Order: sequence, then structure tokens, then C-alpha cells
Amino acid sequence: MKFPIQFKIVVVFSIIIFVGLSAMLFVSYRVTEQNMYQIIDEDMFNTKTNLDIYINQYFLVHKKRMSKESLVSEKNRLTQELTAGIGGPVTIFYMNGDKNQAESTLRSQIAYTINRVDHKVIVSLSFPILQKQSTIGFLEYQKDYSQLYQRNARFQSIIKMFASVIFSFIFIASIFISRKITKPIRELTERSNQVTLGNFNIDISISSRDEIGELARRFQIMIKHIKNQIEIIKQERDEVKQAQAQSKVFFDNVTHELKTPLTTILGYAQIVKDNGFTDAFFFEKGLNYIIHESQRLNRTVVEILELSQSATLSTTYHFEKVDLSEIAKEACEDMKIKARKYNIDIHFELQEGLFTLGDRDKMKEVFLNLLDNSIKYGYVNSMIYVESWKEGDTAVVKIKDEGEGIPAEQLNYVFEPFYRAKRNAPKEKGSAGLGLTIVKNIVDDHHGAIKLQSILNEGTEIKISLPGDGK
Ligand SMILES: Nc1ncnc2c1ncn2[C@@H]1O[C@H](COP(=O)(O)OP(=O)(O)OP(=O)(O)O)[C@@H](O)[C@H]1O
Ligand SMILES: [Mg+2]
Repeated sequence: MKFPIQFKIVVVFSIIIFVGLSAMLFVSYRVTEQNMYQIIDEDMFNTKTNLDIYINQYFLVHKKRMSKESLVSEKNRLTQELTAGIGGPVTIFYMNGDKNQAESTLRSQIAYTINRVDHKVIVSLSFPILQKQSTIGFLEYQKDYSQLYQRNARFQSIIKMFASVIFSFIFIASIFISRKITKPIRELTERSNQVTLGNFNIDISISSRDEIGELARRFQIMIKHIKNQIEIIKQERDEVKQAQAQSKVFFDNVTHELKTPLTTILGYAQIVKDNGFTDAFFFEKGLNYIIHESQRLNRTVVEILELSQSATLSTTYHFEKVDLSEIAKEACEDMKIKARKYNIDIHFELQEGLFTLGDRDKMKEVFLNLLDNSIKYGYVNSMIYVESWKEGDTAVVKIKDEGEGIPAEQLNYVFEPFYRAKRNAPKEKGSAGLGLTIVKNIVDDHHGAIKLQSILNEGTEIKISLPGDGK
């Protein structure tokens, strides 16, 4: 079970004060009681002395010898005079009278008893009447001490009331004081709770110049350090994640980049093998393409190796003035072999001298990818039209196919990495959904624009616009 410090302080304070005040009450009770008994004692002693004097004077004044007999005969008058003189009821007994009553008186020279009857306190004093050392009778005197008792009781209740007020005051004060003492501790506990829940933006409002204030300051410094460390760890984690993602993109792009020229080389090699020896012209042309594409592939591999050794995995471009129509034509020629497989014809109308500032190999990759898509998603026995022209300062290349098209709701997604409108491409294995992403990245890096229009089951048209004339 948990006992808060405030509770402990209040309980300990209360116990101490309660014990202290109880002891004070007890002592004051004992002292006032003793005082009262002392007053009664002295009073009784004086009364006894006075009564002795009165009795002697009585017999002297009335010229009588004090004896048992005279006491018997004078009893009534003597009682009256003593009662009047002393101011309280006096009773006289003879020696042979009530023995029991007088027994205690016999044992001592003076005795009194305190009786409480109906809220009244009566003290009865008894003592022997002596004549020449022998007892001739007894005298009993009663006095009412109720007032003294009441005064004493009042005093006691005042002290009790005073003690209760002090106790209540100290009890309430201890609650407030302990709350004030424990407030900063509670605040620190609350803040540390927030820290454990991951909130490091805490503000501690403890400014006291004591140990708790020092603790709060050190706590805040500690939180600041932890916060900084966490920031550093987060930053490093993000960097690692980013590096991982970057290397994944790099890997995917590299494989894609290698895939297209390899398909072309393979296509030409197959054709050369099939009918190259019978057709010298075709043999020559096929070999040239294989050499040309192998060189391009080799350049790509070298570039990839260089890239993998550098710290950043971002693509590097070799910008130069290039003729877009020429590159597009090359791509069309290269892809013709693949297109022939599906009896697709590539028809091109290209404006000569369509210059732009760009990376030759990357631009070729753009056209190869777009033609690859048009072949893959174009209908068998269909046509692909490639056109290029100049529009003001802009060089435009358009590739149009007759194919299945792209559903309108998917047009916005096809440029996203690994997005494929249909999970299984009808004609090809190994399609990753990266072609258009790579195309868009290359066009963006050339400050160009790409526009995609498609009609379902009719065909797709892609327009690439790049800043013309190498400006
Ligand atoms: N000319 C087109 N006709 C119909 N659909 C197309 C055409 N071009 C692209 N698409 C759709 O867009 C998707 C994304 O194209 P993208 O070139 O990025 O990937 P891919 O061709 O499937 O695979 P990869 O290019 O990596 O081999 C394709 O899967 C296809 O559904
Ligand atoms: Mg593709």
C-alpha cells in the first residue's frame, strides 16, 4: 500500500501534537486537583483550630468546666453557637455515641471525607474533643466546596478547549505545510511520468533555492540531454532508412537499365543466328546493333560501378547537345525486332535536327521504355506511331499505340514505382512496374514534361516535351 509523504507528515505531526497536548492536559489536571486538595486541607486545618478555640471560649465564657457531662448538657447550645460562629452545620457526638462514625476520627487527630451528592461536593470534617488528653466527644463539621470544584472543572474545560483548538489549528496547518513541502515533489513525479510516456517537452516551474529546486534543475538538464540524444538517434535512424530505400531504388533501377539493352541484344543475336548468314546486309546490320548496344550496356555497367563506389547513389548525367529525333529513331530500330514478334509495326515520322541538351543514353532509355510498353500493352497486329516536332522552343516526341489502354482512374498511379495496372502483363515476364517511374525521373531531370492520354481498349499516347535547341 502506498502512503504519500503528505499523509505521513500529517499523521506524525498529529500524533506528536496529540500526545503532547494529552500530557499537558494530564499534568494540568493533576496540578489543579492537588491545589484544590491543598486548599481544602488548609481550610479544614484552620477550621479545626477555630472550632477548638470556639469550644474553649464557650466553656470559659459560660464559666463551666469542660467535661463529658457538661458537653452532654451544653450540646445543643454549643452546637448552635458553633454553627453560627463557623458558618456551617456542626454536629457533636458523645464518647459512647455512634462509634462507627467516629472510628476514623479516633485513629487520627483530624480527618475529613469528600462526598459528592447531586452535583454538590460536601467535605465532612471530624475530630475528637479532648479534655486533658482524653476524648470526651466528637465534632463533625460539614462545608460545601461545590464552587471550588466547579471553578476547577471550568478551568479544566477551558484548558481542554484550548488544547482542541491548538490541535485543530496544528492539524490544518500541518496539512497546508506538508502540501506546500510535497508540491514540488508531486510536480517532479508528474513530469517524470510524462517523460516515461515519451513527452520530453516539459516545463518545470520549481524555482526554490533548496535541494528540491536543485533536483528540479538537474532533472530538466537530464531531460534536455535525453531529448537531444533521442533526436540524434532518430536522425541517424532516418538516415539509415533513407540510405536503405535509396539503395533499393538504385538496385531496382540498375536491373531495369540492364534489362532493356539485353533484350535488344538477345533479339538481334537470335535473328542473326536464324537468317544472318543468308543475308549479308542483315548480318552486318545485326552485328552493328549488337556491338552498339553492347557498348551502351558496357557504359551503363561502368557507370553503375562508379556510382556504387561513391557515397551518393544518385544518377549522374552527361549532358550534351543531342538530336532527339536521332535517338528516337535508334530506339525504334532497336525495338522493331521485338515488335515483329507480335506482328506490330513501328511507324515513325521524325523532324530532323530536333536538338536538346540531354544525356544520350538516358534519353534512349526513355524511348526504349515507352516503346517497350507500347509493344507489351499494344494489340497483336497493330501499329505504333512515333512522331517528333518542334513547338516553339520545345522539342516534342509522341509515341502512340493501339492497345488495351489504361483505365482513367489508374492514370495518376502509373508513374509510381512498382505500380502495374494489371498484375500479369499479357506478353512479358519480369515486368516490375518501374519503366514509367524511370522515364519520369529522367524527363524531370531534363526539366521536361510528360503527358499521358489513354482510351481504354483503343490505345495510349505519351508526349514528352523537352527544352529545345540545347538552350
Ligand atoms: N502503352 C501502354 N498501354 C497500356 N498500359 C500501359 C502502357 N504503358 C504503361 N501501361 C500501364 O502502366 C503500368 C506501369 O508501366 P511501367 O512501364 O512503369 O511498368 P511495366 O511496363 O509494367 O514494367 P517494367 O517497365 O518495369 O518492365 C503498366 O504495368 C501498365 O499497366
Ligand atoms: Mg514498362
